[in-house]
Amino acid sequence: MGETQLRGERLAAALDIGTSKAAVIIAEADPAGVVKVIGVGTGFHRGLHRGEITDAEALIRAVMEAVIKAERMAQAALPPVVIGIPGTLCSSYAARGVAAVKRPGRRVEAADVERALDAAAAVVIPPERRIVDRLIRTYLLDGQMIEGSPIGLAGSRLEVDVQFITAPLSALAELVNCLGQAGIEVDEAAVQVLAAARMVLAPGQRQLGVVLVDLGAGQTDVAVFRDGQLDTMACLPVGTDNLVRDLSAGLGITREQAEQLVREIGCPAPVNSPLGASLEEDGPNMALLDDMQVEPGEYSDVFMARAEEIWQLVRSHTNREGSGGSLSTGIRLVGGGALVPGMAALGAQLLGMPVDASLPEYLKGLPEACQSPAYAAAAALAQDRVRSMTQSQAVGTSRPASLNVLWQKVREWLKS
Ligand SMILES: Nc1ncnc2c1ncn2[C@@H]1O[C@H](COP(=O)(O)OP(=O)(O)OP(=O)(O)O)[C@@H](O)[C@H]1O
Ligand SMILES: [Mg+2]
Repeated sequence: MGETQLRGERLAAALDIGTSKAAVIIAEADPAGVVKVIGVGTGFHRGLHRGEITDAEALIRAVMEAVIKAERMAQAALPPVVIGIPGTLCSSYAARGVAAVKRPGRRVEAADVERALDAAAAVVIPPERRIVDRLIRTYLLDGQMIEGSPIGLAGSRLEVDVQFITAPLSALAELVNCLGQAGIEVDEAAVQVLAAARMVLAPGQRQLGVVLVDLGAGQTDVAVFRDGQLDTMACLPVGTDNLVRDLSAGLGITREQAEQLVREIGCPAPVNSPLGASLEEDGPNMALLDDMQVEPGEYSDVFMARAEEIWQLVRSHTNREGSGGSLSTGIRLVGGGALVPGMAALGAQLLGMPVDASLPEYLKGLPEACQSPAYAAAAALAQDRVRSMTQSQAVGTSRPASLNVLWQKVREWLKS
């Protein structure tokens, strides 16, 4: 077997199609299983709205640009990719599955767990949707709740409570077809925000309670973890584009000018406050506003109205009635919105909990071009892909092997 072929087998690729950009990451797993990103590419576009394709041509152009850049950097052709499923397309269903443990000695084996999971998957799911991810909440063995995996324990009746994440087949098929026309083979899909949670959140943080917020251009994905489990997953139809649009319309400036203000001034703050950039007399931010003939007070009013709304929407999902378990870790903020000055501090102030907007550890090891929280989703998908390629058999991985089987089924439906 040639070196090129060997290398090809170790390559994994991820494609994150966001509202503002398509990002491609090509990663290589070395024989020891260490993942190294070897190619990154981005293409900007306006062909997607709330997860739905509005301009397929523009989208494909951006994807191709991202692919070509990543291939050039990696010095390798793009292998089949994992695509991210945006939260807007996802719904979640809770189900319980039961399996009898049949063998002599009655110790639970992996096959029993699979049968219980299959039974749970028989839950009534609308015919136009397919299961794309799942989270195991609890195992019960002969009615007793089990901490961790039940494999190896003695018992006769195994129950499992699972949360299935589904996506509409038509939207997935449209995306896969659209990419297929550009010669991109889609081999797997993963729910973006869950992939990001797997990459960014430590198990200890999930146990203490944490909220992952991916603040993007067009939407804000939220995943709330309490007592180690996913409690809520939501996709809010607002992002930094709303700030840009409000400023442009409200202040009579161009989109480009509004984008510049969001990136450079962000959340306007009183002098010496931990919030974003201050609007002190003679400071660079005042000069920027002056140049655009924008009154600081008006800028402040328009920006804050929308920024506060974004955080209030996040809060509405962290304060769900009846949900137990605290959120001691606070909020982990990723996505390009984490770079908007003062956005994290505003969230901390409004929600009364810490907001960590620092660059996720894994992204620090990436090529400089993607050392940005805007690449969290793409990097997480690539990591997921490498994991599912290299250790699909391993027990206890966060994305279980049988999910690959599940995705294989989705792939067959898409191709049929
Ligand atoms: N360096 C920066 N400083 C300030 N803001 C930034 C910076 N880089 C990106 N942003 C903001 O983040 C936005 C893009 O975020 P991101 O790349 O996470 O969105 P996306 O993934 O394309 O969209 P979505 O996830 O909503 O579909 C930009 O439109 C901009 O407002
Ligand atoms: Mg995004």
